Amino acid sequence: MRAVDIIVKKRDGQALSQAEIEWFIQEYTAGSIPDYQAAALLMAIFFKGMSRQETVTLTQAMAHSGQLMDLSDITDYAVDKHSSGGVGDKTTLVVLPLVAAFGVPVAKMSGRGLGFSGGTLDKLESIAGFNVQLTEAQFREQAKQYGIVLCGQTGELAPADGKLYALRDVTGTVPSIPLIAGSIMSKKLASGAKGIVLDVKCGSGAFMPTVEAAQELAQVMVEIGTDAGRDMVALISDMSQPLGHAVGNALEVTEAIETLRGRGPKDFRLHCLEVATYLLKIAGRGEKWQHEVETRSLLEEKLDNGEALAKFRLLIEIQGGDVQMVDNPALLPQASMIENFLAEKAGYIAQVAADKVAMAVLAMGGGRTKKGDVLDLAVGVEVLVSVGEEVREGQPLFAIHANDAAKLDEARQFLAQAIQYSDKRVLPVPLFYGVIEGKK
Ligand code: URA
Repeated sequence: MRAVDIIVKKRDGQALSQAEIEWFIQEYTAGSIPDYQAAALLMAIFFKGMSRQETVTLTQAMAHSGQLMDLSDITDYAVDKHSSGGVGDKTTLVVLPLVAAFGVPVAKMSGRGLGFSGGTLDKLESIAGFNVQLTEAQFREQAKQYGIVLCGQTGELAPADGKLYALRDVTGTVPSIPLIAGSIMSKKLASGAKGIVLDVKCGSGAFMPTVEAAQELAQVMVEIGTDAGRDMVALISDMSQPLGHAVGNALEVTEAIETLRGRGPKDFRLHCLEVATYLLKIAGRGEKWQHEVETRSLLEEKLDNGEALAKFRLLIEIQGGDVQMVDNPALLPQASMIENFLAEKAGYIAQVAADKVAMAVLAMGGGRTKKGDVLDLAVGVEVLVSVGEEVREGQPLFAIHANDAAKLDEARQFLAQAIQYSDKRVLPVPLFYGVIEGKK
């Protein structure tokens, strides 16, 4: 087979065969197909799409590009969560320790930022010393001994996604249903989880702009997982405005710690409680944690009594992180300049565009614009208002944390585009739009 023939076939809108998809993924993973040909195929898939069958084949080929992990010696039923990516989405930092506080083992591999969406690994690296690169043996040992582990993808797990993810990030080929479904589900299938909760986001700060597109992506992923024998839940959640207040690596870690202390922004706390409720529900397999109201109050208790925070502290400690930063988040990287962005008029907030806020953070160096960029972990934006709020002229809408005056100026321009006012009352945006469940 020749890579160019497969690219041309997809470019012309034809369906690829199982053999072609498997061959391409195998050869690209092995390094025999160069990045420029893989990028061309990604762009062709972006424009021409893939059928359900092609998407399933792509996912399976990516999952089988490395080892399939078997966690049965650690737990007979591993659970996992994954977000489709958003702005201010630090949910994993709260939900993982929260669920682990119930004695449910959570062993998760997370990613770096993708496009304008942040990545859990980048956020965790704001904590000095925290090691995100574990070997599979370390990953397993930690999961077995402590019931909590959070690190980057090991080289052996879905390596095809590792390469394609980095390539998509810098070639404008992220927002494609088959590519996102293949990326997320290949990792989830390879990681050995039996119950999977997906947080599929929609809105300007997500890769799926509308609820309908997010539902379509969620449905594809639920079907792929169910066909592979997994219990699946997909929540459709809002990402038209940032989640919580903090956007930017160290700022988000600070907000996650606040939330683990029983405080934190209301929307973010509720979001975490909902994701954790479904994780426990799926982990309980029809026996435990089925009563949503009871589960919710148990979860709130663990957030408020410090048990979830203690699990987070443990996670940081065992992976070599500086726990003093958990005890005192003021020790996390801090920007040298903090400037308020003020409301130019009075009215109701009609929009806080998540993508524009993300671009402000990117402009200050908080995200990557090309492979291998080194991040400024201290910079970011605190979002001080949400849609529906009434503001007066001159009220602070954002606090910009910057380390460079010119970049701060660029960020200010993006933030000016993020806000829209209305003279009339505006309804708040819902946190969730629905849930799709699939049982094996
Ligand atoms: N998260 C992933 O792991 N992959 C994507 O493509 C998008 C979000």
